[in-house]
Amino acid sequence: MPSCVTWVKPPVESATFTSTHFPTGTMIHFDPTTNTFNLVLATSLYAFRADDEGRLLHMAWAPRPVGAPTDLVLGGPGFDSLPRADELPLTRRFELNTFCDSVQQEVALKVTFRDSPIPIRDVRLRYAGHEIVTDAQPGLAPTHGQPTAVSTPRETLRVRLADPAQPLEVTLCYRLTPEHDIIERWVEIANTGAQPIEVEALAFATLHFPNGTTELTSAAGWWTREFTATRERLPMGIRSIEQRSLQTGHYANPFFLLNRPGQAWEETGVVYFGALAYSGAWRIVFEQLFTLDVRCQVGYNPFDFGLTLMPGERHITPAVVIGVCAEGWGGASRRLHAFALERVLPRPADGPAFRPVLYNSWEATYFNLSLEGQIALARKAATIGVELFCVDDGWFGGRRHDRAGLGDWFVSPEVFPEGLEPLIAEVHRLGMQFGLWVEPEMVNPDSELYRAHPDWVLHFPGRPRTEWRFQLMLDFGRREVVEHIYGVLHSLLSRYAIDFLKWDMNRYATEPGSVVGRAIWQAHTAGVYEIMDRLRRAFPHLQIESCASGGGRIDLGILARTDQVWTSDNTDAYDRIRIQEGYSLAYPARAMMAWVTHAVNHQTGMTSPLSLRFDVAMRGSLGIGADLNQLDEAELAEYAQYIAFYKRIRPVVQGGRLYRLQRLEEYGASVIEYVSPDRREAVYSVAVMSYQQGWVRPPAPLCGLDPDAMYSVTDRRGVEVYRAAGLELMTAGIPGDAFGGAAYSRTLYLRQIREPD
Ligand code: DGJ
Repeated sequence: MPSCVTWVKPPVESATFTSTHFPTGTMIHFDPTTNTFNLVLATSLYAFRADDEGRLLHMAWAPRPVGAPTDLVLGGPGFDSLPRADELPLTRRFELNTFCDSVQQEVALKVTFRDSPIPIRDVRLRYAGHEIVTDAQPGLAPTHGQPTAVSTPRETLRVRLADPAQPLEVTLCYRLTPEHDIIERWVEIANTGAQPIEVEALAFATLHFPNGTTELTSAAGWWTREFTATRERLPMGIRSIEQRSLQTGHYANPFFLLNRPGQAWEETGVVYFGALAYSGAWRIVFEQLFTLDVRCQVGYNPFDFGLTLMPGERHITPAVVIGVCAEGWGGASRRLHAFALERVLPRPADGPAFRPVLYNSWEATYFNLSLEGQIALARKAATIGVELFCVDDGWFGGRRHDRAGLGDWFVSPEVFPEGLEPLIAEVHRLGMQFGLWVEPEMVNPDSELYRAHPDWVLHFPGRPRTEWRFQLMLDFGRREVVEHIYGVLHSLLSRYAIDFLKWDMNRYATEPGSVVGRAIWQAHTAGVYEIMDRLRRAFPHLQIESCASGGGRIDLGILARTDQVWTSDNTDAYDRIRIQEGYSLAYPARAMMAWVTHAVNHQTGMTSPLSLRFDVAMRGSLGIGADLNQLDEAELAEYAQYIAFYKRIRPVVQGGRLYRLQRLEEYGASVIEYVSPDRREAVYSVAVMSYQQGWVRPPAPLCGLDPDAMYSVTDRRGVEVYRAAGLELMTAGIPGDAFGGAAYSRTLYLRQIREPD
């Protein structure tokens, strides 16, 4: 074994790319004279190079200067200059940090080679070639075969690195969506030797931010308190956000916004952003160095991580979606929204153009289900304009309460003596789609499934099995479990005309004992994704909502195989203003299911007017969760009027660009705006969460309109309340909200009009 590594400069594999000539449309440039790569996006660029020893070093990631004579960073030795050479290993900006000569810091990759007397844990990667392809896919990419709204091919740069002394090959992948300034990054590692390699840490990417980029915006929380946006200064050293479970989690959500303190605001300033396309145990760890450089390792959570790479085996990680823009936090959010809408959410060719208005019976009936009761609700739901009727928990097995029945996915004859057919037939006759709740990853010990297969749950033999909500988790590391769950769901969907599944998941893992060992941290997510993808392939019209005790599984990985997410079990309109604002930092309104529930909220006991409940829920994909039997004719008529209004504004809400005009932290109120891509329509929404007497709210200038066009502003009854040019709206705003007090809200619709000459 050589004591130091040597590098032989490999030939450039692709002859197509030179520093001076790029094929039309090519966004990936390679200069063989300096070994510099430039990834050129709409308004930003990303550059790195192989140095003289073949080490891949980060050079730049930034908005592109307007009017620059060249799009390219040319490279050169200056990027590695620090006064003291012995500090270089600590500060050098590797495109992927590996455990080698700077073990004091966080790394993206740590492995053990066991084929020497002292097992080697040292990896030094050297450039070994690159290619540009248009068919690369990250790990856990959807396999359901359904298109996204935009499916044009994208270029991926694959840079091959190898350890000259050890049998390990690592490929860094960069897939570009230039129009949104987005790069998806992932890593492939391959064992090219004859002995197994143990992988102890594996990130999807190392990210380098400019010196001093230390203001972090992220979302923390808990059940019923998801997406609490927090803004903080990164400390010297380490700050990590993470989840150690088998779903994305409530504690934190896997996205970040990062900027220099005081240099970014809602619509201005350079903001870096990232979001994971993965729903398992994850970690994003930021490290501020003594140089004030900031770097980040993002990917699998190294906590209890373990992956054995057998000879010849290759592992492909999921992707982290990253970008940078100069239009503040709002610009970062809009890029993530556009990416999710166009490139992530499945959009079958004959699927609904917009998310249907949903009714969910959970808060109306809880476990007290009956055919007659559900039909009564369905009839009322249809009269107010609902388009999708979903029966929640309690329809199956012995599930009359939450202590029994999970796992027994057959219709309970106690609840539906004639099966689900009469209910589904009535729902369809009423012109609505039919949806059903499931929680496939779980089992109650009091169930036929558990009695038949007590070994099918996560556990350590002979040790306690901790229950949460009286349930245990199935071991998705077992192939027979994944096949069983796929089989029962397939039978259900084959037998009944089900249009929509609400896929729930209501506990965290405790004792993660699995037949696949530590690999369960990835295997569980892979199993869930596989079942969803196979179901979508078998039933192309099936729509899926991701729910995990509310918003516990929301990320770009689950969005790639679902149509919408349940944002939170907290349906209190006041709390929802904040939860939804946090959600909007990374995820699009189209996917955000939001219910209107009872005047006295079941979770918080707070009372809120119907106007606030609708105005808040209409900011996303509208659902109704109130007990319609408790409403009189006048109230039902009011619901119907709101729903009709929502259908008018829905294309703008679900497909428009979001601007957060005033945020809660500034005014105790949230003012947002959605603008259609052609700027002809907009939706303006005000909601006051907390109010103190004497507050006068300044009008919020609107954004994104056509300054030369005239807009008519109407309320939900279609009455014009204002008329002004785009320029006036974007400088002075819409008057009338200054004194709106507690629970004040309103939603207005703006439409361009042609005035007579
Ligand atoms: C948790 C979900 O978030 C709720 O909406 C509801 O479906 C319950 N589970 C049912 O058990």
